[in-house]
Amino acid sequence: FLEDRYRVRLQKIQDYESRVSPGAAGPGKAGGLGRVLVIDHPLIQHKLGLVRDKNTSVKDFRELVQEIAGLMVYEVTRSLSLEEIEVHTPLGPTKAFSLSGKKMAVVPVLRAGLGMVEGILRLIPNAKVGHIGLYRDPHTLEPVEYYCKLPGDIEDRDIYVVDPMLATGGSAAAAIELVKRQGGKRISLVSLIAAPEGVERVRGQHPEVDIFTAALDSHLNDHGYIVPGLGDAGDRLFGTK
Ligand code: URA
Repeated sequence: FLEDRYRVRLQKIQDYESRVSPGAAGPGKAGGLGRVLVIDHPLIQHKLGLVRDKNTSVKDFRELVQEIAGLMVYEVTRSLSLEEIEVHTPLGPTKAFSLSGKKMAVVPVLRAGLGMVEGILRLIPNAKVGHIGLYRDPHTLEPVEYYCKLPGDIEDRDIYVVDPMLATGGSAAAAIELVKRQGGKRISLVSLIAAPEGVERVRGQHPEVDIFTAALDSHLNDHGYIVPGLGDAGDRLFGTK
């Protein structure tokens, strides 16, 4: 369903990606180029179809967003490092693996990002959670911070900034900037649906950040909504209009 003008834009992103060797840049590795990863797992794509459906109830929408966010964690955390340990099964000792002391932080961008947090914490329950609140200045249309509370040791953590819709990229880029200003270094952005405009903006401002999404959609409409997208994620999560 991509219109031609957006096909060109998407091609640009794909060309850019093809120059980045897979795994060359781990999540937020300082100095490395980040990646744009569209996670096309069938379960994620099936559930994404359900959240796109305008007839999906608030209850189901909420549950599905958490489930998709949880499923995305598998890919988002794929490059975490492991260390070998010894454990004792009922039958004797064996070598096994343990995450090698990695500390993580999930940072939802208020308010829609909240809809993804529980799903992620189900998989990484020891992650700390920071919050970033931004509103759009009606004159400049640029995001302005109204709340930012991050874990004190943010510089030691792998940080997952979460926002279901990567639309213009203005909020996501500003949220990443806030995390960096507080010392965050290894940052990934996790969204359910991204527009090429948003991907370009975040890549332009934060080229080392990995961007994970379940879909790269066609374009933004005149109101900044992703087309086809799923509508207003915050309203659909919280039942507001
Ligand atoms: N935010 C949303 O919730 N939906 C969009 O399509 C764009 C921004």
